[in-house]
Amino acid sequence: MITLSAIGKTFPATRRQAAVTALEDVSLTVDRGQVMGIVGPSGSGKSTLARIINLLERPTTGTVTVDGLELTSLRTSDLNRARRTIGMIFQQFNLLDSRTALANVELPLELAGIGRGERRARATELLERVGLGDKLGSHPAQLSGGQRQRVAIARALAPRPSVLLCDEATSALDPTSTTSVLALLRELTAELGLTTVLITHEMDVVKRVCDAVTLLENGRVVDAGRLGEVVTRPDSPLATRLLPHPDPGTSDPDLIEVTLGGTEHDHVLTDLIRRYAVDVAVVAATVETLGGQRFGRMQLRLDGPGDQVAAAREHLARSQRSNGASATASAVTTSTPALSEVA
Ligand SMILES: Nc1ncnc2c1ncn2[C@@H]1O[C@H](COP(=O)(O)OP(=O)(O)OP(=O)(O)O)[C@@H](O)[C@H]1O
Ligand SMILES: [Mg+2]
Repeated sequence: MITLSAIGKTFPATRRQAAVTALEDVSLTVDRGQVMGIVGPSGSGKSTLARIINLLERPTTGTVTVDGLELTSLRTSDLNRARRTIGMIFQQFNLLDSRTALANVELPLELAGIGRGERRARATELLERVGLGDKLGSHPAQLSGGQRQRVAIARALAPRPSVLLCDEATSALDPTSTTSVLALLRELTAELGLTTVLITHEMDVVKRVCDAVTLLENGRVVDAGRLGEVVTRPDSPLATRLLPHPDPGTSDPDLIEVTLGGTEHDHVLTDLIRRYAVDVAVVAATVETLGGQRFGRMQLRLDGPGDQVAAAREHLARSQRSNGASATASAVTTSTPALSEVA
């Protein structure tokens, strides 16, 4: 588990550059077994945040606590030991070209003073786990991008860390390798009970593997929560990027938009038709799997006697509130908002 509390980071001015405040008052918690996505435009402070979690960079203010240990209060010698509980992988893999896959994975164990037999066994087991049991003797130049990132994952996991930080880990990979590396990260997080932080500029990565997401802008947290919670919050800047508003292709002002998720998905419309004398037409819908759960936004047209339509609208509004949304189901305009990516 990672807890960041009121983290601030200002890089002091140099002769060539004014001081830069990269992070301001950032607080967040990532639970064990959870994958947290950190998204935000270029320069918003994502990489700085990752480097602060393993204290490669000292925060100017605030505290970093990993598995109950406050890293920000440790002396250098204790900190070096604590850092072994945090693995990290990068966009550019950072493997040593002169070493084989096996020797790359052994490296952190070598540095920790672990004997040859033990480290060889551990590195072999990890490379087999990431699907590279037949590539132990290959050098990075002989491996594909996806295979190199698998070696980097095995290397990061060699010291048995409890936290895995991934900074744009799939940004240099083709779509097929991206899919398999993301699936591997998801599996390993569950299997090893890791706390995983995944920095990305792609919302699609968040949708596919993250349980929760934090949006940084100008070094501040502007949105955060579990995917299912964020998507149903009307004031969430991430909500429409996770699940776009459907385009009904008409300008009917009486259309009602509802966002449904999980089990409620199945019951809301059935309930509506049973309770009220209305016909319900789904005019447009978008559906996504977010964090393993299905979510949908639908634009509905209700037809029937005026009082029944009004009561049905109120019923829908209530179902939205119980679904985590704080506003009522509302008539919507037909314009589809620009679905710009986060970065
Ligand atoms: N060592 C440093 N010295 C001075 N400024 C820095 C340093 N590292 C980062 N910064 C500044 O801090 C801000 C945040 O940088 P950071 O690398 O964390 O952004 P990012 O969100 O990871 O961006 P990207 O998506 O492009 O990787 C930027 O303005 C950057 O110029
Ligand atoms: Mg970065």
